[in-house]
Amino acid sequence: MSVHKEIKKVTTNVLLEMKRKGEKISMLTAYDYTMAKIVDHAGVDVILVGDSASNVMAGHETTLPITLDQMIYHASSVVRAVDRALIVVDLPFGTYQGNSKEALNSSIKIMKESGGHAVKLEGGMEVTESIQRILTAGIPVMGHLGLTPQSIYKFGTYTVRAKEELEAKKLIEDAHALEKAGCFAIVLEKIPAKLAEQVAKELTIPVIGIGAGGGVDGQVLVFHDMVGLTHEFSPRFLRRYLNLYDDITEAVGKYIQDVKSKDFPNSNEQY
Ligand code: KIV
Repeated sequence: MSVHKEIKKVTTNVLLEMKRKGEKISMLTAYDYTMAKIVDHAGVDVILVGDSASNVMAGHETTLPITLDQMIYHASSVVRAVDRALIVVDLPFGTYQGNSKEALNSSIKIMKESGGHAVKLEGGMEVTESIQRILTAGIPVMGHLGLTPQSIYKFGTYTVRAKEELEAKKLIEDAHALEKAGCFAIVLEKIPAKLAEQVAKELTIPVIGIGAGGGVDGQVLVFHDMVGLTHEFSPRFLRRYLNLYDDITEAVGKYIQDVKSKDFPNSNEQY
């Protein structure tokens, strides 16, 4: 029997066990109660309350504007829906980079006010002191390397990262530093598959990829992208399992037609 099927509640230890057994970890984003209920019921292992909510839910161009209180609002909605998955909450931009005390206070606020199970932050060696400090409060931390959207203005583009040897070497060093600092897992975003596979082999903690190939320990996608609710964003790594943008547009069109033609409501649809 796989670890996935046996487990009633996913913990960070369960994820480690999955890696040890070679069982891939499934992770998806969720930002609200209704979608989180579906995703958890379907059996996903990890739910990420990502700061991509800034783009997907609020329509911002980047992840930078979302606030700690807004992340807590999304996370607490998700927590109310979930029975089984491990819930990881992104520390938003500007709430942990200042110093390790700020990182600890932001993480405590998230855990206390949302009920999430762990936090995620972006960066390598420069955030290890913060990771260690957050861990002193018993809060599990997930790292995030490669394409780190909170640094978009430093890099200028959302293209594949660590293609050059120097950047690849730095990424490997950062990954080891995150493991040493105590992260229970890391996300690798949009880097060459070979490099991601090497990192997953070298680390004992799970490595979860998005646009990082199949040689890692698990995969994460933004829920709204994989069900096709968003339609302008089509990177190579994205597999769309549904086309909800088109389906919903068609349904709304039919509803408008039915209202205008007085077909809705019919005699059975009223009191
Ligand atoms: O915020 C997010 O959705 C993420 C994933 C892309 C990993 O960080």
